[in-house]
Amino acid sequence: MSASMAPLPNVIEPRWWTGQSALQPESFTIDCSGYDMDKETRYDGGANPRDNIEPNVYEVGAPLQAWLHYHHEMAYIGSSTKMLAFLVRSAVMNKGQTFVSDNIQATDAILRTDFGQKLKELGLCYHRDLTDRDAFAGTEEIGVYNHWQKSMLTDDPDRAEQRARERGLETEWAANRLLKTRYYVSALEYYPQLDRNVLYSSVADDGMWFDTWPKVMHLPYDQRPLKLTFGDLTEMTLEEKRLFVDIYDRFGIPINWRAGDVAIVCNYRFAHGRPSIHLDHGEDRELGVLLGESFNRVGHLDGKW
Ligand SMILES: [Fe+2]
Repeated sequence: MSASMAPLPNVIEPRWWTGQSALQPESFTIDCSGYDMDKETRYDGGANPRDNIEPNVYEVGAPLQAWLHYHHEMAYIGSSTKMLAFLVRSAVMNKGQTFVSDNIQATDAILRTDFGQKLKELGLCYHRDLTDRDAFAGTEEIGVYNHWQKSMLTDDPDRAEQRARERGLETEWAANRLLKTRYYVSALEYYPQLDRNVLYSSVADDGMWFDTWPKVMHLPYDQRPLKLTFGDLTEMTLEEKRLFVDIYDRFGIPINWRAGDVAIVCNYRFAHGRPSIHLDHGEDRELGVLLGESFNRVGHLDGKW
């Protein structure tokens, strides 16, 4: 570990699991080796399947050395996703695991705490600062997470603001064409399939997300591009954040990747994340992410606990 990687004080590192899987892997593993998947692909009318698959498959887009706190995908905007899939092109045995956390157990556990009740009562505000790509032209992008041009897929500031509002965000421009967005929503989400509310938030949308992120981790929390507060804009204490991390860690399940694996993850039923990864020379780990059907967030519903 170099000097620049020295942890800041008060950094909360997840422990990911208890050492015992919260659900038995047999309960969610399907062995497809008997289905002769290669043959199926070749039978697909001669169309190159890569043409169909690649436009939808995203790079994970996070540096390997950064740990990625447990989270639900796209919890921070009005349009979220019902599920996601990981596709493994290459993997290293016993390295670079992804973890999922049993969100049903996590929800029940957090609601038994004062913090959980506070989350339920106050909801959350997601604060995001989107930088201006042009302001960083030709410079090393220090402290940058996402430019509004890239996030909103336009170079027109009016259009960017409009798109943000369509997604349920409040917007405000600051110096250097910094686009500040705020999104107020419940910390939980109604899960139709189980007809109950489930936890749908984590510290991944706080400045803590960047605790091990190159070019951002050196910044004090109030200068980082993301921040999570309660819905009344009050801050979470360090103890509350510790509990927020711990609640997912208690119900963690490791996924040990092998090339060719596909994991389909219900975004309500599970949170996902991973520790930092340090590959040795010649080791290769490549995962793609596929997003499922989108849905508009409704938050929690009364009486569905
Ligand atoms: Fe994710």
